[in-house]
Amino acid sequence: MGKVVDVCGIIGYIGDRPACEVIVKGLKRLEYRGYDSAGIVTEEGGRLYIKKGAGRIDELAEKLGFLEMPGKRGIGHTRWATHGVPNDSNAHPQTDCSGEIALVHNGIIENFAELRGELLGKGHTFKSDTDTETIAHLIEEELKSSSNFEEALRKALKRLKGSFALGIIYTGEPDRLYFVRNESPLVLGIGDGETFAASDIPAFLEYTNRVVFLDDGEYAVITMDSYVVKKLDTGEVVEKSVQEITWTLEMAEKAGYPHFMLKEIHEQPRAIKDAIHGNREIIRGIAEEIANYDRIIFVAMGTSYHAALVGKYLFQRLAKKVPIVEEASEFRYEFEDLIDDRTLVIAITQSGETADTLAAMKLAKKKGAKVLAVVNVVGSMATRIADLTLYTHAGPEIGVAATKTYTTQLTVLTMLAIELARIIGTASEEHLRRLEEELIRTPELVELALKHDGALRELAEALMDSRDFFYIGRGVGFPTALEGALKLKEISYIHAEGLSAGELKHGPLALIEDGVPVVAIAPSGKTFEKMVSNIEEAKARRAFVIALGDSKKLEKVADVFIQMPEVDELLTPIPYVVPLQLLAYHLAVLRGNDPDKPRNLAKSVTVE
Ligand code: F6R
Repeated sequence: MGKVVDVCGIIGYIGDRPACEVIVKGLKRLEYRGYDSAGIVTEEGGRLYIKKGAGRIDELAEKLGFLEMPGKRGIGHTRWATHGVPNDSNAHPQTDCSGEIALVHNGIIENFAELRGELLGKGHTFKSDTDTETIAHLIEEELKSSSNFEEALRKALKRLKGSFALGIIYTGEPDRLYFVRNESPLVLGIGDGETFAASDIPAFLEYTNRVVFLDDGEYAVITMDSYVVKKLDTGEVVEKSVQEITWTLEMAEKAGYPHFMLKEIHEQPRAIKDAIHGNREIIRGIAEEIANYDRIIFVAMGTSYHAALVGKYLFQRLAKKVPIVEEASEFRYEFEDLIDDRTLVIAITQSGETADTLAAMKLAKKKGAKVLAVVNVVGSMATRIADLTLYTHAGPEIGVAATKTYTTQLTVLTMLAIELARIIGTASEEHLRRLEEELIRTPELVELALKHDGALRELAEALMDSRDFFYIGRGVGFPTALEGALKLKEISYIHAEGLSAGELKHGPLALIEDGVPVVAIAPSGKTFEKMVSNIEEAKARRAFVIALGDSKKLEKVADVFIQMPEVDELLTPIPYVVPLQLLAYHLAVLRGNDPDKPRNLAKSVTVE
């Protein structure tokens, strides 16, 4: 199974067909990934032709005349905004000042603001708000002191920090296209007298099933009948083998995974990296703006509400601030008279379109509060209402059940809490540094958690006829219990409850009987011993206990032990939710449900 996962879509073509036809078809094949704008560049007679805009591909094709573009080489792009709202000028391709270099980009350039400043100082003029345009100008700048385009490209790329996949066309070299990969996927398609490149195989699968996967830190120079792959740092040629793909088109859209949800669960390491890269430079400024607020209210719904609960623990423990977490649907009834200009409202919403969350934000604004939104969809309504926005950079999420958008929300909230603590001085620099280092390692920890997939599938087989599940956790593990239960009910339709483990003996224990599955979130930390007692309470009622933790002690008390990597307790919500997502997924599939489209649910709840 390949791991071709990403946000925007790239398709490049060089051969004997009209490039625009191949590209428009390719872009349509990439539509399922989600996008807000699209664009194409082709070349003929040493001149670039560019058409781009915000909107659907079919509409743009008709309005702009995509299919009338001349030339037999070109690149197309579907954009899902990360920097700059979706509009015509921010759509890709982006060009340099001379108009001789055009490029498209997936990913995030972390240090673009600094580079843009430098290039503005050197007299470059910018036409968009994108990080992408910076790359075109940077190559143009390097070209002045390089002997050829390839050298300039390499020099420019060395200066970029972040994740990127690029497709580049240059009028000065009419027989070739360049494609670069660094932490954002790219694959070449090798045809007969024609060569393709794309961020995902379905884009060209109709023409060829012979592919070459690029690895991080590599770039390819393609012509109609050749390709060469080289290392970005040294320019050294890398030998690559051609692989034959046997996937159907539908399988290819899901990168070989049977469902989008599973693909998105597996995308989490990359998504978390992007969340870190995408916010590293701006988090300080946002934290400074909100550091003085003492009345902080998180508003959100569903999975985003669980992220808010984790946010509360992070703010309490690190920044010594005690936020209130309120369901957005209840906020206006409870808080109308309690909000003023000393209040900070943090709205968490993947879609940025959840009606209840938007209503809460609007009320907060009306009452003079400062509103910070933590959002995945760039340019969504929430970002327009908010004073400040942090993006989660998870990429489009197609499965209805939130997975990668949740772990990226947690990532962003962790970064924010760390920075707040640093500004306010409520934690030692050493502690904060250690947390930052551990946060950078969370993608690896998620990879480790993903390795339990086979065991969790077997567990799901054993438990597929269970009627009820209980998830228990304490402290920062409590929201994880809630989220595990929510995932299970929404896609497997099995009744599940997330409980604070301390509450168990105050009522819910009456429901525990022989063989009832109890999933215990039990990382080492403040409440570990207490969790062990809670597990024993459940065991005494003959529950079937599945324990997630890093201590071997759990092996003795639980029926099933899911070994988790050691990490600071405050970061456990990120890796610990992963096995719970997988368990819910397998139970849904085994019970014959489509996890991508659970009954009665919509991806975005735009009515109250
Ligand atoms: C559950 C899920 C929902 C959403 C909720 C809020 O898997 O996806 O509970 O979390 O509808 O949606 P957003 O985050 O878009 O505001």
